[in-house]
Amino acid sequence: MARITAGIATSHVPAIGAAIDLGKTQEPYWAPVFAGYEFSKRWIAAHEPDVVFLAYNDHASAFSLDVVPTFAIGCAEQFAPADEGWGPRPVPTVPGHPELAAHVAQSLIQSDFDLTVINKMDVDHGLTVPLSLMFGQPQSWPCRVIPFAVNVVLYPPPSGLRCFRLGQALRQAVESFDADLDVQVWGTGGMSHQLQGPRAGLINKAFDQSFLDRLIAEPEAQARMPHIDYMREAGSEGIELVMWLIMRGALNARVKTTHRFYHVPASNTAVGHLILENQP
Ligand code: DHB
Ligand code: FE
Repeated sequence: MARITAGIATSHVPAIGAAIDLGKTQEPYWAPVFAGYEFSKRWIAAHEPDVVFLAYNDHASAFSLDVVPTFAIGCAEQFAPADEGWGPRPVPTVPGHPELAAHVAQSLIQSDFDLTVINKMDVDHGLTVPLSLMFGQPQSWPCRVIPFAVNVVLYPPPSGLRCFRLGQALRQAVESFDADLDVQVWGTGGMSHQLQGPRAGLINKAFDQSFLDRLIAEPEAQARMPHIDYMREAGSEGIELVMWLIMRGALNARVKTTHRFYHVPASNTAVGHLILENQP
């Protein structure tokens, strides 16, 4: 049977992708950000998954405001990097896992989660920047990826609790897939940031650190935080953090914190990053 081996959380700032693509990672501004991922690159080389189930948000690249699914699962054979206005990122096409994606879609929909099935879409920085942070700049991505898009762009977002429960249901789905696969669940986005309005530039380090503590140690309690508190405390784009709860819901109650990193700033964002491994 397939099994979930680890969860990873990371921010997905587009400027991080540009820094990688333009060879700027060792510049003084960026070096401390990328230093936080050196361990992660070594760790994942030793713990390479067969499939990454990657919860991220589309930023009006695949979906326009005409149609905005709350939860959308990518079931295609592959996903091309999206053109976000300055050409697609020079990164490999993302190979999907249509069989596992279809199984997860069936299992989650039959467990009363309303998913939109996506058979063709491009993937933006929300998905490709986390892949670059973890895998560097390979000729092809070393594993398959199931994109799972969560709407945190157009109000209303799903609640943290809904995301946490979805992660729990995802685990059952993966563990009932009859194939010998190591699956990692990644939650991306965050941490505190606000890109527009009078509070643009907002960062809240105390909130971010508390979120990391609670996500690890008392995720169910953290999951009950209402969406409005993310907006108030972590800024309008801080709501991206609900996607980390999908990752956490897919893991055991007890986890080992293999890696924890926090850095401000990267563009307008506080960067947070976790590697969590299941404990019995
Ligand atoms: C930034 C962060 C994001 O999460 C995003 O989607 C776009 C921009 C930023 O910090 O600039
Ligand atoms: Fe974002």
